Amino acid sequence: MARITGGVTTSHVPAIGAAIDQGKTDTEYWAPLFAGYEWSKKWIANEKPDVIVLVYNDHASAFSLEMIPTFAIGCADEFPIADEGFGPRPVPTVKGHADLACHLAQALILDEFDMTVINQMAVDHGLTVPLSLLFGQPEEWPVRVVPIAVNVIQYPPPTGERCFKLGQALRRAIESYDEDLNVQVWGTGGMSHQLQGPRAGLINQEFDNNFLTKMADDVDELRAIPHLEYLREAGSEGIELVMWLIMRGALGDTVSPLHRFYHVPASNTAVGHLVLGVPEESK
Ligand SMILES: [Fe+2]
Repeated sequence: MARITGGVTTSHVPAIGAAIDQGKTDTEYWAPLFAGYEWSKKWIANEKPDVIVLVYNDHASAFSLEMIPTFAIGCADEFPIADEGFGPRPVPTVKGHADLACHLAQALILDEFDMTVINQMAVDHGLTVPLSLLFGQPEEWPVRVVPIAVNVIQYPPPTGERCFKLGQALRRAIESYDEDLNVQVWGTGGMSHQLQGPRAGLINQEFDNNFLTKMADDVDELRAIPHLEYLREAGSEGIELVMWLIMRGALGDTVSPLHRFYHVPASNTAVGHLVLGVPEESK
């Protein structure tokens, strides 16, 4: 049986990817940010997951504004790196796990979550920056990835509660897969940021730190946050945080915070990162 062995949340700021690709991780500006991921890099080297179900959002790379699925799952054998305007990032092609992904698509749809099935898709910084933060710059990614793309770009995005319930269904789906696989679920995006309008540059450290705490302590409070509160408190792009709730829903009732990191600013955003463990008996 496939098992969920842990969860990761992290921001996926594109400038972080550029800093890695251009060898700037040791600079005065970037070094404090990358220091916050050192613990996680060692942790994951030990954990050696077989597959990461990686929840992220596409930034008009694979999906244009002509067609935007609310929830999509990548069922391909591999996912090329998207060209976001400066050529594709110099990172390895992302290898999928088509058999597991097709199983998850079937299980989720029969569990009443109407996933869009994606058989061909380029993946952008939303997916590749988290991989780079945890795995560095390998020749090949040491893990297979099942991408789950969530619409947080065009109104209306799904609610946090809906995302949490999708996570719960994802757990059922993963645990009904026969092969013995070590699976992690990652939720990316956030934290508070706003990229346009009079409030561009908004960062709300109090909201972000409360969110980081409640991910482990009181997720029910986070499930109930409405869209307008995200917009008001965390800025127009803070809605990306609903993707963290998919990961949290998948991890089950009890989690233990293994690592927590918060850093301001990275580019014009607040960066938040959590590693959550699950009880030994549920691994
Ligand atoms: Fe994003």
